[in-house]
Amino acid sequence: MFQASEWAGRCLLSRSDLKIPEHIAVIMDGNGRWAVEQGLPRTEGHRAGEEALMRWVRAGRKLGVKEMSFYTFSTENWNRSVSEVNFLMNISKEIMVKRAPEFIDLGCQVRWVGRKGRIWSSVLRELEVIQEKTKRCTDMVLNFCINYGGRAEILDAVNEIIDNASAGKLKKVTEKSFAKYLYSPTMRDVDLLIRTSGEVRTSNFLPWQLVYSEMVFIEDKWPDVDESTLIRCLEQYTSRDRRFGKA
Ligand code: IPE
Ligand code: IPE
Ligand code: MG
Repeated sequence: MFQASEWAGRCLLSRSDLKIPEHIAVIMDGNGRWAVEQGLPRTEGHRAGEEALMRWVRAGRKLGVKEMSFYTFSTENWNRSVSEVNFLMNISKEIMVKRAPEFIDLGCQVRWVGRKGRIWSSVLRELEVIQEKTKRCTDMVLNFCINYGGRAEILDAVNEIIDNASAGKLKKVTEKSFAKYLYSPTMRDVDLLIRTSGEVRTSNFLPWQLVYSEMVFIEDKWPDVDESTLIRCLEQYTSRDRRFGKA
């Protein structure tokens, strides 16, 4: 016997009419506004956002998505209050520790995507631990973009290319060889970008990888999303005609 909610989930996820993107990238936005609406401190929105993240990781996995990338902390988010930055660094660390068993159960290979430098070393240590623990998981790649900025990623790549060229190791770059210098050289192009909370912009997220992705912007604030919200986004994705420049 299934519980009612479990049964509903099974029905939703057995929809064979949906096209399933290989790589979904998510701008999880609206945590702060969600909290303020309920008279709570902004940080409670981030806490509720962790549950939403897990709901989408489970749903993505059940649907057979191959790669999911979550924008967790941008290079611009350092401009927030010290207490919010501290909270976000701490919760990123906590998620890696607390959720490791479930990521392994789900077969998720966790990867950190971002710039070294300002990110706390204690966060980096936990990211290294979870990357090591999940390195043999092959069902889904789960990228956490923390201290990530698209311009930073491109500039870091360009500077490494300049170093290699000056050392005589390189003469020219192609689209394919350039991608090898990105933070995650094996990251697929994004098929579907989803942003919550009604904002319609990409906020420095994955500019190289997004060039041909379909984009879906929804009004729901991130802590409110569940499996059915993801299905709604996939319905839009399924209706799109991806032409890649062809007539
Ligand atoms: C997204 O929610 C989480 C991060 C950027 C870390 P916000 O914190 O941006 O929430 P709003 O946009 O202020 O509501
Ligand atoms: C983008 O959201 C960054 C993350 C979700 C981590 P922001 O809330 O920081 O973006 P802007 O400032 O509204 O563009
Ligand atoms: Mg925001």
